[in-house]
Amino acid sequence: MTARHDRFIAMKLICLLLLWGVISGRAQDAAIQRSVDSLLSMMTLEEKCGQLNQIPANWKDGVSYLTDEGKEMVRRGQVGSLLNAAGASSIREIQRLTVEESRLGIPLIIGVDIIHGSRTIFPVPLAEASSWDPELVQKSARVAAVEASAAGIHWTFAPMVDIARDPRWGRIVEGSGEDPYLGSVMAAARVRGFQGTSLADPTSILACAKHFAAYGGAEAGRDYNIVDMSERTLREIYLPPFKAALDAGAGSFMSSFNEIAGVPSTGSKFLMTDVLRGEWGFKGFVVSDWTAIGELIPHGVAANRAEAGALAINAGVDIDMVSKIYMDELPALVRSGKVSPGTVDEAVRRVLRAKFRLGLFTDPYRGASTERERKSILSVDHVKAAREIGQRSIILLKNEESLLPISKQTKTIAVIGPLADNKDEPLGPWHAGGKAADVVTVLEGIKSQVSPQTRVLYVKGCEIEGDSGARFVEATLLAKQADVAIVALGESERMSGEAASRSNIDLPGVQRELLKQVLSTGTPTVLVLMNGRPLTIAWEAAHTPAILETWFLGVQTGNAIADVLFGDVNPSGKLPVSFPRSVGQVPIYYNYKSTGRPFDELNKYTSKYLDVTNTPLYPFGYGLSYTTFSYSELKLSSQKIPPGSDVSVTIRVTNTGRRKGEEIVQLYVRDVVASVTRPVKELKGFQRVTLDPGQQKTVTFTLKPDQLAFYGLDMKRVVEPGMFKVYVGGNSVDVVESEFELTDH
Ligand code: NOJ
Repeated sequence: MTARHDRFIAMKLICLLLLWGVISGRAQDAAIQRSVDSLLSMMTLEEKCGQLNQIPANWKDGVSYLTDEGKEMVRRGQVGSLLNAAGASSIREIQRLTVEESRLGIPLIIGVDIIHGSRTIFPVPLAEASSWDPELVQKSARVAAVEASAAGIHWTFAPMVDIARDPRWGRIVEGSGEDPYLGSVMAAARVRGFQGTSLADPTSILACAKHFAAYGGAEAGRDYNIVDMSERTLREIYLPPFKAALDAGAGSFMSSFNEIAGVPSTGSKFLMTDVLRGEWGFKGFVVSDWTAIGELIPHGVAANRAEAGALAINAGVDIDMVSKIYMDELPALVRSGKVSPGTVDEAVRRVLRAKFRLGLFTDPYRGASTERERKSILSVDHVKAAREIGQRSIILLKNEESLLPISKQTKTIAVIGPLADNKDEPLGPWHAGGKAADVVTVLEGIKSQVSPQTRVLYVKGCEIEGDSGARFVEATLLAKQADVAIVALGESERMSGEAASRSNIDLPGVQRELLKQVLSTGTPTVLVLMNGRPLTIAWEAAHTPAILETWFLGVQTGNAIADVLFGDVNPSGKLPVSFPRSVGQVPIYYNYKSTGRPFDELNKYTSKYLDVTNTPLYPFGYGLSYTTFSYSELKLSSQKIPPGSDVSVTIRVTNTGRRKGEEIVQLYVRDVVASVTRPVKELKGFQRVTLDPGQQKTVTFTLKPDQLAFYGLDMKRVVEPGMFKVYVGGNSVDVVESEFELTDH
């Protein structure tokens, strides 16, 4: 029996005990810690640095593999994790090589960007956030974890929890929009979904809250650009979803590409050591973004690779994604005293701890198999879940004269537009193992739901980009014959996501022209938008009777949209982000500050533009239904609230229309006078109510004292006495209001 064999028996035993719940809580942690320490004591410095090195897999004919050089590195113990590998059989082979042919046999963690589904592609995260439904979002992440883990993936680089106030930034599609509260709720839901109840469960995958931090604040909405913001804005707007992810148990964080006020995040001790580990008590590990450690050189804070490596590890980045700087430089940095051995040991401990928690020492394959993969992907339940959240993610932006829903008996329906019968784009950016063949298009969804007598006509009309109007005539001829036209327009999936910023956020190409042509026929027209960011659609909004915002809904796109078009589902989605009237208003968000000269239409010398008003086209929280709701009788538990007490807020919501519907009731607060300026509104809670026609319900919110807190002049959290306004409504603008005084004793 070798020492390695004995060690494995001991580790397996510990893992099994963890799995069976025989030892729990602190005892588990202590047991893992002992195993980690014993393993650490057997490792050479090079092997330790290897655990901190992450390399990408290579791809050929849809199969991931390691190059000969990669295999050698693995055998030498120079690789701790792998990214972008896929498929149970190829991952098993790579893992086999690692555990059987490296000296210590420490399994790799396999990480992949499982952002909105693994093979069953769900709506993009911005769309899912539009559902304001954390249970469904959690379910979506759970399905993704079940499918990904079956294929041998242990770790997802998600959730992306970056707040984004600038729709030019393409990565807005990957997050939950502009609001820290909604963003926090969604971040926590996704972590719960990915990680399940225990990481030891082989259907769980490790979550990674990214990109820490403030990546969404990129100047001018240009990806990878610098960020320069106050610590107050950082802490109040950009950090809360990260804290929520951590509180939900996120096992890893990813440092961001950007700098904040002169300090690149990947070299920021303030972010990763002081805030994340010091203030928040994070016990997991931090991975850099792709080559971000090497990028400390072009940032201009490191002269060479060694300096970059020292900066990153000393700041608190544990794993080096792709730069190979830790592998090449860390051993010498330790030997020369520029990095302490304790710093490296601590980083290695964090990585090994995660491997133990994932059960990789019990079964380095975590039960992955092609059989398990085959059974889980696109299962009936998974596809059903994708359709359900697809339905909930759709936002009804406009519905003049109740054009929608349309009847399934309609005689002739014209389906027009470059996205109407498109199977590629609805997958959206970051679609992992998603396949175009799995997508139900809008045309297919419509055809499958109409009556046998209904004629469904289709023409593409134009491309997403480009300037050809050659098929406009065909489109108008078709629209003329129809009782209703459904026009599906928007962006291609490559126009949002990473490295996909746009300075012009109109509908691309000649799509507006196509819409004009269709509208000129006088046929009632519904615009179905598919896009990865808010677009500037003031013209479309003014001239089109009905508009659905559907983002990218994944494999069930056409079914979910048809469910809403024909009224089997009454839309209830709400915007997680403001829609600007023009790109010049950007950045635009509902929780802005008043300024000393708040907007006044009649006074030129107030904060505004000469050519456009300040308000967005569609505000945060906005979304219509096929029914209508009214809000009345807003009541607070008291008009005077003593310090430290809860405030109870009740409101009566009535379905004033003729259909059953669901409304997202939103609660906002404003601190009227404080020692530092406060936003004009801040979302503090929301609830979904389902109401039959004529039915009323009283909705109650409880405002906790901490929800009134902010970062004061000394950057400490404080609740200050004084007047607070309370707003409740179905979006951030149309609200009923009341107020209370927080007394000082
Ligand atoms: C770069 C992206 O910024 C990050 O979000 C992603 O997880 C990594 N590449 C790995 O693909």
